[in-house]
Formats: sequence, C-alpha cells, structure tokens
Amino acid sequence: MSSQDKIKELLNLRDQARLGGGEKRIDAQHQKGKLTARERLELLLDEGSFEEFDMFVSHRSIDFGLDKQTYLSDGVVTGYGTIDGRLVYVFSQDFTVFGGSLSEMYAQKICKIMDKAMKVGAPIIGLNDSGGARIQEGVKSLGGYAEIFERNILASGVVPQISAVFGPCAGGAVYSPALTDFIIMSKETSYMFVTGPKVVKTVTGEDVSEEQLGGAFVHGTKSGVAHFISDNEQEGILLIRKLLSYLPQNNLEDPPVIPCNDPIDRLEDSLNDYVPENPNKPYDMREIIHSVADFKEFFEVSESFAPNIITGFSRFLGMPVGIVANQPNYLAGVLDINGSRKAARFVRFCDAFNIPIVTFVDVPGFLPGTAQEYGGIIIHGAKLLFAYGEATVPKITVIIRKAYGGAYDVMSSKHLRGDINYAWPGAEIAVMGAKGAIEILYSKEYKDIQDLEERMKFLQKKEEEYKRNSPPLTSQLNMATLMM
Ligand code: HXC
Repeated sequence: MSSQDKIKELLNLRDQARLGGGEKRIDAQHQKGKLTARERLELLLDEGSFEEFDMFVSHRSIDFGLDKQTYLSDGVVTGYGTIDGRLVYVFSQDFTVFGGSLSEMYAQKICKIMDKAMKVGAPIIGLNDSGGARIQEGVKSLGGYAEIFERNILASGVVPQISAVFGPCAGGAVYSPALTDFIIMSKETSYMFVTGPKVVKTVTGEDVSEEQLGGAFVHGTKSGVAHFISDNEQEGILLIRKLLSYLPQNNLEDPPVIPCNDPIDRLEDSLNDYVPENPNKPYDMREIIHSVADFKEFFEVSESFAPNIITGFSRFLGMPVGIVANQPNYLAGVLDINGSRKAARFVRFCDAFNIPIVTFVDVPGFLPGTAQEYGGIIIHGAKLLFAYGEATVPKITVIIRKAYGGAYDVMSSKHLRGDINYAWPGAEIAVMGAKGAIEILYSKEYKDIQDLEERMKFLQKKEEEYKRNSPPLTSQLNMATLMM
C-alpha cells in the first residue's frame, strides 16, 4: 500500500468515525431538537482547538450479535481543547451509537481523559446523553461506571468538574454528573432519573411522565440536582463557557482575574434607602448584590431551587468571588433544609477552588416545624455551619438587616473565622426578633396590664429598649464593624 493509500484509508476511517451511529440516527437526533456529540463539542471549544483521542476504538464484545455491530469511537467522543484559550478535557456521549450507552471501552476512553486532566490540573467537562449501562455488556459496563465514579471522587476539589445533561440520562448515567461540581440541563430534551417511568409504574404504581419524573424543571426547582437550566443546548453550552470564566484550572491556582474599569470605590447612593426599616418587610437581596458587583453582574447558581438563599459568582475589581445571601423576598430569607444544602455545597466549592466568599445576611433564623425536623434540618443546617467553619478562603460578611439566633452563627459569623464582618447601619444581631423576645421576657408583666392601650404602650417601650441593645453598634464584643 502506498503512503497516499494509507493516508486515504486513515481519512476514510475518520469520516466513518465522525458519522457515529449513521446518518439516519443523526437525523433522528436532530428531529428531537438535539445536537450530535461532535456538534456540541464544536460549540463548546474554541474553534479548531479540539484534539481527539481514541477515535478508532470500538467495543470488544461478541455476545448478543455485537460482533456484527461495531462503531468507531464506540459512542463517546473524547479529547482536549481550549475554552477562551484555557485547557479543558472533554467527553461527549453519542446517542446515535447504542443510545449513548456505556461499554467497557467507552468507560476506558472517559477514564483516560479524566486521568490526563488530573495529571496536568485542567477542568473536566462531560456532555451526557446516555441510556446508562450498555445492557449487552453486563458487569463490564457496571465496572466501567464505577471506574469513572472513582475518578470523579478523586478529582473532586482538585479540578473543576462540569456536567451538561443533554438527553435522557438513566441509571448509572446520572451518578457521574451527580459527583461533579455543576450540572446543566436543557429544557424539554434533558431527563435524569435512577429508574425511568416504566419501572416506577411497576414498582410503585405511579403514573408519571419523563418530564415529571426527572425533567429540567423538576431538577432545577424541586430536587436541586441541576444548577443551571437552559432553554436549549446552545444556551447550555454558553453557560458552561461562562461558568468556567469564574473558576481556576485547579485547586492550586487562583481564579482568573480580568481587567476591570468599574471603580472599586464607586458609591451607590440608592442603597441608603433600599433596605426597609421594618424587619418584616421583604425586599430583593439581588438588588444589593448587583449594586456592589463589578458592572452589576451576578451569575446565579441554582437560581430556582431554595430561593430563600442566593448563591452565585460575581467579580470585585475583576477578581471572582462567591456570593451567598439570604433572600428576604422568599420565606423571609429563613434557613431551611434545601437552603442549607444548597449554600453548604456552594461554600465548599468556593473553599476548594480559592474563591473568596462574600456573605450578605438578613436572616430570621431556621424554619421551625415537623417537616423540617423530620427531614433532618439539624444535619443539613450543620452542613452549612461546617462549610463556613472549615473554609479558609477570605470570608467577608455584611449583616444587612437582621441576624437572629443560630442562623447568625451559621451565616459566616466572626466566630466561624469570618475575616471581616460588617454591619449595615441599623442592623440587628439578637437571639430572636424583638416581638418574640419581649413576649417571653415580660409575659407576666404584660398579661397583668388589663387596659389594651396601656399594654400596647408597654410592649412598644420594651421592644424599643430591646432593639437599642441589639445593634452591633452597642455590642461590647465588637461582633461586626459598622459600615458608614
Ligand atoms: C444498549 C441501548 C440502551 C442500553 C438504549 N439503547 N439504551 N442499548 N444498552 N442501556 C439503544 C436502543 O436499543 C436503540 O437502539 C437506541 O439505543 C435508541 O434507544 P431508543 O429506546 O430507541 O430511544 P428513546 O426512545 O429516545 O429512549 C431512550 C431511553 C431508552 C429513555 C434511554 O432507550 C431506555 O429507557 N433505555 C434503557 C435505560 C436503562 O434502563 N438503562 C440501564 C440502566 S441501569 P437502535 O439500534 O434501535 O438505535 C444502569 C446501571 C448502572 O445504568 C448502575 C451504576 C451505579
């Protein structure tokens, strides 16, 4: 064979590999409103930067007629490339080959890029679209999953791991994304469930659609599994690129600082009147976050899950920071199970990747009740306490209005090694709100006052006294520095 023929053969093989499961299945993929594995990578990576590994690998099974059904690449495209010039390792599952299901060789391809990413300290991005374990391969496939899970675990906190789910992800296919730092799902085409609707019907008798069981809306609002929901795959891919701009390459590096001409001493006079004096009046904490961030930009994480707490990324003078904030606009900004879980995970991520944490506090306490107690609020609340307490990145806290009870301690208080803790003028730090406190402290006295008007006057006077003693201004221990 001449060298020209050899090159021609190589090019033919490449063309064959690029067709995945064939044109018919590619058309079917497009008809469902989905992109192919390679089209997704083209959008994700800088133009011309993709370097593919193991393009000619195929499975080595012979059972169930698989010896007559082989596809180059075996259902997953792997390699490395750049995003905004920064190195990333990627895999993209190809639904046109056995429904993107995972085989032994497929798993080895993914493990290879994960090992390389760990070796050089670069993020790992997985684009998922898979029917789970390849049924024909049995235990080899299950073992392949576990090999990936182990690497997800070892890479956790060492290099950023981002998963997009752009199709049905069932069975084992959901656990690898769950072990990564962020999950992006796109509306209408993404599903994640441990067992699909048919199994649910058989086991529990429940009639449920794929969308109701594990669609993007469910995981973005109810379970909190998905951190970002996009309208379509293209938007989802742009979200990955944006997310990466806030993250370092690995746990030994700092996040990338970008040039910034938004003055760090810019004054926002609107903030003087923004926070209502009445501690029970809601307002949108996002306004405050936007006002203080570079160019008023805030990239929110888990926006629709547990909206009583806000998490996300901003920049101050070009430097990425993680923001955590109570949201008085939803459930008065109370801490509950979902809010604690959401914020704890975010704080731990920031701590692992050298991202300073800025916390805005306006919290009435923990949500009381049997639903919370039975659900383990004690354990979940402790997760947030633990996350703040162990975090060694710079921690800056601003008490905006109220910080009551255990929630005061938890929300990055000074006692949990908060570096600088500010208090907005008029901020209150107390065991509980004035009304509740006075009712407990003076219950005998006020019940003895028969005249209603006199009673109200008494309560009001005591409340004012209580409030005067709650601000950080009068705190002997200097719990926070007053912002002027
Ligand atoms: C082998 C599979 C497959 C699988 C799909 N295919 N899933 N092949 N193993 N797990 C093949 C189909 O035979 C079909 O082949 C092609 O992929 C497309 O599948 P369709 O069913 O036609 O597509 P669609 O209607 O879109 O449905 C997609 C789906 C469904 C929802 C993913 O295929 C499905 O429910 N698959 C099984 C999911 C599952 O239960 N997986 C095992 C989970 S257990 P052709 O040749 O027609 O194109 C598991 C254990 C791991 O993962 C545990 C580790 C902790």
